[in-house]
Amino acid sequence: MQIISDLEILGHKAHTELEQISNLEQLESWRVGYLGKKSKLISILRSLSKLEIEERIKVGSQANQLKKALELSLENKRNLLEEATIAYSTEQKAIDVTLPGYPISTGRLHPITQMLKNICEIFQNMGFQVVEGPDVEWDHYNFDALNIPQDHPARDMFDTFWIDSNKAGKDARLLRTHTSPMQIRVMEKEQPPIRVIVPGRTYRYEATDATHESMFYQVEGLAVDKNITMTDLKGTLLEFCQLIFGKDRKVRFRCDYFPFVEPGAEVAIECLACHGSGCRLCGYSGWLEILGAGMVHPEVLRRVNIDPDIYSGFAFGLGVERVPMLLSGIEDIRLFYGNDLRFLKQF
Ligand code: FA5
Repeated sequence: MQIISDLEILGHKAHTELEQISNLEQLESWRVGYLGKKSKLISILRSLSKLEIEERIKVGSQANQLKKALELSLENKRNLLEEATIAYSTEQKAIDVTLPGYPISTGRLHPITQMLKNICEIFQNMGFQVVEGPDVEWDHYNFDALNIPQDHPARDMFDTFWIDSNKAGKDARLLRTHTSPMQIRVMEKEQPPIRVIVPGRTYRYEATDATHESMFYQVEGLAVDKNITMTDLKGTLLEFCQLIFGKDRKVRFRCDYFPFVEPGAEVAIECLACHGSGCRLCGYSGWLEILGAGMVHPEVLRRVNIDPDIYSGFAFGLGVERVPMLLSGIEDIRLFYGNDLRFLKQF
């Protein structure tokens, strides 16, 4: 029978072509050609009704068998091609170990941490011991014990972040406005000779500008012993300034007032940015104040049971951020805490 032999030839041809197919697009054309609506096989199946009953049974069974066989082969081939596509794309994504790696950016210490380490090292070499104190402090240590009583006008100098805003008096807590409370804590515990420095954060509720932050670091210094004089204070601070800024940098000592020292002084350094002619960094004065200092007030010593007729001492409080500002000509203190890596990576 002609149709049966046509179907055999068709089946043979379809399988031979299927073996040559190497991608999904070719497979789709093959499907349309052999199993699509206009394919020879489908038109044979559609015209079965026109055949004699006996012929219809034979051709129908042969054509349906071929259709099933072609569909099965199509499915198998599709699976094979899809697996090969996935394997190929995975291969493409595989790591090429011969390529240079991505550089890993290394971390570093914050410029202020680096500066704190430098400052501490200088004073440690002079015989000072490093101690630390709490950021949250009692009113008593921050003000009272430092000769700054409740109604003392000097309290106006410190705009304070209070923790217990509803409490007044020595039991109220606050964020320390300076590291000087540690003078008291150390002297309460230790008898002279005392030589300590206290690095730490301090907080002031004040408007920020190019040289003022609301959180900044100080390093407190305290030396108490027999025969300590203003000369020791000046010598120590001059040595420190020369080690940090170099011998040629001008250092200015001037009188200043702090209730817990007598006499009091301030130290300023010639501005690096303008070399004294005046700019934004130095507030157009040519100088930038880096610390307050003085001889420990006899009244403060008496309060911690150190006899001021036998002992004397000096103290200072250094603003840490001002040091790298003066060293590198940084015109705005806020850059230190702005978390801009382009700035921080330079140190
Ligand atoms: C004091 O804080 C005193 N406790 C210093 C002191 C200690 C005097 C021991 C005598 C004896 P003053 O407020 O001036 O002083 O601050 C000291 C230094 O901290 C300043 O010279 C300045 O360098 C820095 N400083 C002060 N306020 C700020 C601020 N808002 N932002 C950044 N640095 C500041």
